[in-house]
This record gives sequence, structure tokens and C-alpha cells, in this order.
Amino acid sequence: MQLLELEGLHVAFSTDRGEAKAVNGIDLSLKESETLAVVGESGSGKSVTALAILGLLPKRTAMVRADALRFDGRDLMALSEEQLRAMRGKDIGMVFQDPMTSLNPVLTIGRQLSEIGEVHLGMTRATAQDHAADLLDQVGIPQAKARLRDYPHQFSGGMRQRVGIAMAIACKPKLLIADEPTTALDVTVQAQVLELLAELQAEMRMAIMLVTHDLGVVARIADRVLVMYAGSVVETGSAEAVFSRTGMPYTRALLRSVPRLDQADEGPLRPIRGSPPDVMRLAKGCSFAPRCDLVEARCHLGQPPLARCGPDHQAACVLVEPTA
Ligand SMILES: Nc1ncnc2c1ncn2[C@@H]1O[C@H](COP(=O)(O)OP(=O)(O)OP(=O)(O)O)[C@@H](O)[C@H]1O
Ligand SMILES: [Mg+2]
Repeated sequence: MQLLELEGLHVAFSTDRGEAKAVNGIDLSLKESETLAVVGESGSGKSVTALAILGLLPKRTAMVRADALRFDGRDLMALSEEQLRAMRGKDIGMVFQDPMTSLNPVLTIGRQLSEIGEVHLGMTRATAQDHAADLLDQVGIPQAKARLRDYPHQFSGGMRQRVGIAMAIACKPKLLIADEPTTALDVTVQAQVLELLAELQAEMRMAIMLVTHDLGVVARIADRVLVMYAGSVVETGSAEAVFSRTGMPYTRALLRSVPRLDQADEGPLRPIRGSPPDVMRLAKGCSFAPRCDLVEARCHLGQPPLARCGPDHQAACVLVEPTA
């Protein structure tokens, strides 16, 4: 059974320059214990999608519409603000790129972690403190008990990110949404944090939606991949299918543009030429056409729909041979 199901998500922002179509009708789903990586260049709509699922987009400027948004059998669109708030942090954990946005600089780490136990899990103060120490220990912070008295600024960037993860998993959520959880970290620490996420997932059977720029990371830990471009899904499927039988020229270009830890020598890195389209002015054809080496006249006629090109694999490109 699917844990998370999102169908036909559209998000537009009203801005001074007009309407920004950030997400244009995407579907995604996630099963228990599964890791879905959402990848794509800057501005492709990854964070907006994550925030829409969490109900965290600004009400004043964001117009959000979806045909369905279900989590664990519940219709998230029917929940009140209060019910959503109760669910976030408890059933759905969140980790953001900059842990300082989720940590309060004037409260000790111990206070912030034990508050979650007290508020969401109904623990006494003493139990919540032991729980907090266990959590820090679980995310690999040495001398966990003593460090509970420290403030966020007394931790390194990598450690703060671990604390952010500890907060996110405090209630053993069924789903963890991690938006670029390692971008601010150096490469060694990045690898450690990802390793940690993978371990916690195996232990807790939680599903992870991992938003990242980094396809090298994806190849190592994702079961499934969703590639976004200009607010649309242009390729999706099992990580194995997307990596080894890539259907969309954009995904191929993305793969060539980043170093991959899982492959020894793929030739020189090649940046993708040009830049992503302006979401204020999306053309009617394939949004990647202006940057695509394989572009043909028919690419400009309309946005190609996602077509099935394998058992668990879809791509949106006129060159993809659809299979039944
Ligand atoms: N609050 C907002 N108001 C107006 N436009 C927004 C807002 N948030 C996002 N956008 C626009 O929506 C589009 C998608 O943004 P989003 O943050 O989802 O990108 P992203 O894929 O997460 O990129 P990055 O990799 O840089 O984090 C962008 O064009 C962005 O400028
Ligand atoms: Mg983002």
C-alpha cells in the first residue's frame, strides 16, 4: 500500500512580475520503507512540492491545487491547520537544508529535544530528557548526555544537521521529508549524514523523500527517483531503471554534469548548457527543448506527457519508445 500519494499537484505564486507556475500537475507516491529521491536543477519545484505536501506554503501568495493528497490513508487536504500541525513532526518528520531554521538559538539542544517528547509523546520531563540523550546518541553525537546542555551555536555544521535529524525522527515518523539535508556540509560529513539516514531508515522502516541536487547521492541510497524540470516530472522510476536506461535527455545531461561516487570513470563532467526556463513564461512545447542536443521540430508542439518506457519507468520525451 502507498504511504503517500499525491496526484495532480499545481502550485502557482502571485508575484509582482505576474504568476509563477512553480509546479504544473505532478504525481508522486511513496511506499513504507522506501526512499524516493527528487532531483532537478535549482528552481525546478522540488522544495515547493515538499512544502505543499507538508501544508507549509505561504497561504497569502501560493495557490495550491491537487486532485489527491493522501498520507497513511488520510486525506491531508481535509485536515484543519491544527490537525496538520499535530501530524507534522509526529507522523511526518522534516529536515531542512539549514538546521538553524529548525533549531532555536536561545534554547539548549536538550530543551528542544525533550520538548518534543513532552508535547508529542506525553513523556514526563525526566523521561523526555533520557529520550533526548538517546536520540543524540542515535545520530552519532559523542557524549550525548553532556551535550544536551549546549546551545546550537556550540555544535559544528555537521553536528547541527545531525541534531536536526534527531529532532525529525524523535517521534519515529512514518515519513521523513529531507530537503537538501546535506548541501551545506562538506563532502565527508555529507556522506556520514546520508549513511546515518540510511541506517535510521533500516532500523525504523520509515519512508524518506529526499530532495537533492546530487545524483551521486541518489545512486547510493534511493529506491526510486523523480526528476523534475520547470515544475513538471520529466522522468520517474526505479533508481536502477532511471540510471541505467535513462529515457529523458535532461536526466542524461544531469547525470553527465555531476560527479558520481558509484561509477569510477564516466568521462569528463559536462555542465548542461543554457539555463532552466523562467517559470513566468513557460513555452508550450517541451521546456527542455531549447537546451536539448536531440531537439526536433515536434518538440516545440506541446509538452510531451510521461510515457511508460519500462515496468517501473516513465519518461516525458518524444524520443521515448512507449511500452505497454
Ligand atoms: N514563496 C514564493 N514566492 C514566489 N515564488 C516562489 C516562492 N517559492 C518558490 N518560488 C518559485 O517557485 C519555483 C520553484 O522553487 P523551488 O524552491 O521549489 O525550487 P527548488 O527546485 O527547490 O530549487 P533549489 O534546488 O534551488 O532549492 C522557483 O521559480 C521559485 O522562484
Ligand atoms: Mg529547494
